Amino acid sequence: MTKRITVLGSTGSIGKNTLDIVRRAAPDTYKIVALTANQSVNKIADQALEFRPEFVALADASKASDLNAKLVGSGIETGFGLEAVIEAARRSTDFTMAAIIGSAGLEPTLAAVGQGHHIGLANKECLVCAGETFMAAVRQSGATLLPVDSEHNAIFQVLEDDVKGVRRLILTASGGPFREASLERLQSVSLEDALKHPVWSMGAKISIDSATLMNKGLELIEASWLFDRPSAEIDVIVHPQSIIHSMVEYIDGSVLAQLGSPDMRTPIAYSMGWPSRIEAPVERLDFAKLSGLTFFEPDTVKFPALRLAREALEAGGQAPCVLNAANEQAVAAFLERRIPFLGIARAVEAALEAHAKGREFTVAPEHVKAVIALDHAARATVDEHIVNL
Ligand SMILES: NC(=O)c1ccc[n+]([C@@H]2O[C@H](COP(=O)([O-])OP(=O)(O)OC[C@H]3O[C@@H](n4cnc5c(N)ncnc54)[C@H](OP(=O)(O)O)[C@@H]3O)[C@@H](O)[C@H]2O)c1
Repeated sequence: MTKRITVLGSTGSIGKNTLDIVRRAAPDTYKIVALTANQSVNKIADQALEFRPEFVALADASKASDLNAKLVGSGIETGFGLEAVIEAARRSTDFTMAAIIGSAGLEPTLAAVGQGHHIGLANKECLVCAGETFMAAVRQSGATLLPVDSEHNAIFQVLEDDVKGVRRLILTASGGPFREASLERLQSVSLEDALKHPVWSMGAKISIDSATLMNKGLELIEASWLFDRPSAEIDVIVHPQSIIHSMVEYIDGSVLAQLGSPDMRTPIAYSMGWPSRIEAPVERLDFAKLSGLTFFEPDTVKFPALRLAREALEAGGQAPCVLNAANEQAVAAFLERRIPFLGIARAVEAALEAHAKGREFTVAPEHVKAVIALDHAARATVDEHIVNL
């Protein structure tokens, strides 16, 4: 039976890899319902003409005439602004890939969850900024969340076979491009250095998050919500080869892991095919050629973002939302060369401190509008501090 799918964030790294799997599948395996992006007119127009979705939405309404001109006569419906992206997410599907970057993905992903179908969840930020609200919406709609982050996908695969007797989850981290750099060197690393991930090919924001280890911090919070585990039961270990994607330790001492080449098309294919497995065009592991698998404790002095994320998870309430929004704002400033690399974690720490002084951290934002207001407040705090970073 043809699977109806929507890709939110189709022009990004995860979105393009999702469409690559669709492209390689037998005809009529998939029908694309909707594609969305922010402002990449040319990319989404090309995708639309190739995959013939029913609906295409751009969040940036100023691009309306450009996209309409490219799709004129195609019969493909278009829409613009956040409401249009949400409308795309609400259309009935069998599977939605939620791959918008950042907290901008929260409302569209919640709209997809509201349909109650299968959701491939790449957008970890929506769980970090609104975990309680998001998981309550999942329970209410009966949607199935299929984690796409390779670490969470690995744990999901392991737990599908045995959820009993779990002692801890072990998230692996590549360590990013600066794993071996000294703290002194980190003071002067360039944007280009930070974007050069040694193993994974990803979008700009997550590449910077990987360089600061904030990505692992966000994943820690994501894992806590997805698998209902406290901070104390989730460890992080640096594993530079990124062959083991994560592990689960059981009370009898057994450790089960999922392994594979570092290629996002494996977890993407897993989420698209679930509960069956489908082909993914990835390099196969050749164990005879693996030179070795190594593991290290993460260095939270060099990479304070991981410590800040764990502290935010343990503080609970509003802290993860502030952490996430401050990080997004600081990463955007780093991408625009307005702050140095080490300024990112300093900005996040300053926002968390400013917020802790003014508000009660143990109260979770109860609904989406409150989350968005808090997100904006945390971003404004970063903007105020930016001159000192
Ligand atoms: N890349 C990976 O390998 C990887 C691995 C694990 C998890 N993830 C997670 O997957 C998500 C996507 O990551 P990515 O690397 O694919 O990001 P990306 O390459 O930066 O792509 C982001 C997508 O979101 C769209 N977008 C950006 N701002 C938007 C807005 N305000 N409203 C609506 N759409 C917007 C972009 O459209 P435009 O093209 O128009 O800007 C693009 O389609 C993130 O949450 C990330 O943490 C990614």
